[in-house]
Amino acid sequence: MSHLTIPEFQQQKKQGKKITVVTAYDALFTRIVEQAGLEVILVGDSLGMVVQGKTNTLSVTMEDMLYHTQIVASAAQRALVIGDMPFLSYQVSVEEAVRNAGRFLQAGAAAIKLEGGFSVVDRVEAMTRFGIPVMGHLGMTPQSVNQSGGYRVQGKDPSEAEKILCEAKALEEAGAFAVVLECVPTSLANTITQELSIPTIGIGAGKVCDGQVLVLYDLLGLFDDFVPKFVKPYAHLKADALQALKRYKEEVECGAFPSDAESYQ
Ligand code: KIV
Repeated sequence: MSHLTIPEFQQQKKQGKKITVVTAYDALFTRIVEQAGLEVILVGDSLGMVVQGKTNTLSVTMEDMLYHTQIVASAAQRALVIGDMPFLSYQVSVEEAVRNAGRFLQAGAAAIKLEGGFSVVDRVEAMTRFGIPVMGHLGMTPQSVNQSGGYRVQGKDPSEAEKILCEAKALEEAGAFAVVLECVPTSLANTITQELSIPTIGIGAGKVCDGQVLVLYDLLGLFDDFVPKFVKPYAHLKADALQALKRYKEEVECGAFPSDAESYQ
């Protein structure tokens, strides 16, 4: 089976077909995501929070990301796998950024994502020049949480909105194949989506974007330390897991498990 390509991904905007993206970090969920028919997987640095239990994404390393990217890319049969560049892997210099982006492709990803606007345009330009497809990420950028003062909506103020729009255009010009818009007002997401020819992928940016992305554990109702307004839990797997584990403990304690059905005669 062949993988979804970047041109096929982009074609969906032209066809008016919404693009569904989800994060995954391991082989089991990669297979489940694909069985559900989703074709784009982001190995997000959100793994710092949902897998590693940290309060933000800043401590995630290249080695962490490459480990999970390799696992997801090996398990994926059809999905376009995008690796998320962690904090400090692309900020220091264009050279380091290109080298680290290339390591994601060597790990099996078909593209990378990085956060930021004007500050990363030279990185995006260099990466695309060397055949590394780049997805941008604007609005609320979690790696800048210390500067932005928390996880809050960006681009409410007209001058801020204008800057985000200009940055989106600059990323497209530099060669980005798509851009994530996180936590921005729907009206701004709409303007950007209309003005760009590359797809916009929203998270907390309304239904006007060309596609949507969610963190897998959020949409499955597994992670409830912090549930932003933009998350819709489509399942309640944490509640199911708690119930299952409590029942298992009770049955072990009262001798109901294992029964003859789970024992060898
Ligand atoms: O790290 C991540 O999972 C992300 C998405 C939520 C866009 O950046």
